[in-house]
Amino acid sequence: MSIVIASFDDSEQAAIDAAFRVAAAGQAVDLPDMPALSRQVFESALRHPMPGRSLRMALATLDDVPVGYFVLYLPQWENVDNASLELVVHPAYRRRGVGRALYEHAVRVLRGQGRKRIIATLVGPLPEGPDRPAVGARFAAALGARPALGEVHRRLVVDGVDHALLDRLLADARERATGYRTVSWQGVTPEEYVADVGYLDSRLVLDSPIGDLVLEPERVDAERVRAIERVLTARGRAAYHCGVVHEASGRLVAWTMIIVVPSVPRHADQQITIVDPAHRGHRLGLLVKIENLRYLLAHEPELHEIDTWNAADNSYMIAINEQLGFRAVDAWTYWQLDL
Ligand SMILES: CC(C)(COP(=O)(O)OP(=O)(O)OC[C@H]1O[C@@H](n2cnc3c(N)ncnc32)[C@H](O)[C@@H]1OP(=O)(O)O)[C@@H](O)C(=O)NCCC(=O)NCCS
Repeated sequence: MSIVIASFDDSEQAAIDAAFRVAAAGQAVDLPDMPALSRQVFESALRHPMPGRSLRMALATLDDVPVGYFVLYLPQWENVDNASLELVVHPAYRRRGVGRALYEHAVRVLRGQGRKRIIATLVGPLPEGPDRPAVGARFAAALGARPALGEVHRRLVVDGVDHALLDRLLADARERATGYRTVSWQGVTPEEYVADVGYLDSRLVLDSPIGDLVLEPERVDAERVRAIERVLTARGRAAYHCGVVHEASGRLVAWTMIIVVPSVPRHADQQITIVDPAHRGHRLGLLVKIENLRYLLAHEPELHEIDTWNAADNSYMIAINEQLGFRAVDAWTYWQLDL
């Protein structure tokens, strides 16, 4: 039995295809209630990295059969000591040392790049939730990683949305939000708000719990917002945004975004939601989320569910999500390992 690990890049279609087959098989076994992994989603993420991210990939073969892969995401502009790792072994070939061999190769790559820390996100079960494999956590612990931040994944099933309740919550939120108005857009942020979106995006690491993760805030300016938009477009993602404008200053002071992949129209991912600290306490978070949900539903008739992830102790955001009807599914843990 011989395990061979070979680096590849985005010009090597056969390796990308093989990695996709491993990822899809892994997802079907580990997360059977999630939509099947889309080839377009997988491949476009490798071909169009987020601005300021450099990728390193490798494929593992066992007696010439592709059985595992990793992708390392190397931030270039901030967090330059860190690397995020995605590593999957085909379910039929686990517990034969492939994961460890891939990991050891990843460590060699990272040492060569002067990186000091690996971060990886792994799923686990919640007491009332669906079955989830414990393998990722055992693997990470065996390699010496530690849990650094616990998140809970919640899902909103669109058919179950209580619109009468949302009407009441929205009316109440609007009453508390005098002097503010909402604005919605798809894709490209209106020029007048682009710097404010960058400011709000930069605040995320400061304002949401990050547990023991060693992370610096990202410096997101208007140019970087535009670069992110170009990547999302290149990946074929549809982005639905809603913001809140403070009428006296004309500034965008709250913002939320949901992403849909047109090839998977039943599913959406809630991304960032953030309210500028100077404007909290006016129900702007609830306001912007209900408005964006309705904006999304008006444009995505096939939508069935929306997924969201929050730090387990992010009580304000979780309270808003629960009011909208999101319910906990499983637990995701950021594991961190110092090299
Ligand atoms: C986690 C994963 C990558 C492990 O791959 P693998 O090829 O089975 O891992 P290895 O055979 O190299 O195991 C390495 C060590 O991890 C631990 N481990 C892995 N699977 C385990 C299991 N099912 N039960 C207990 N320990 C386990 C063991 O300590 C093992 O060493 P040992 O066999 O000498 O005891 C694989 O299960 C997988 O792809 N899971 C889904 C994706 C994921 O969770 N990735 C995590 C890394 S980002």
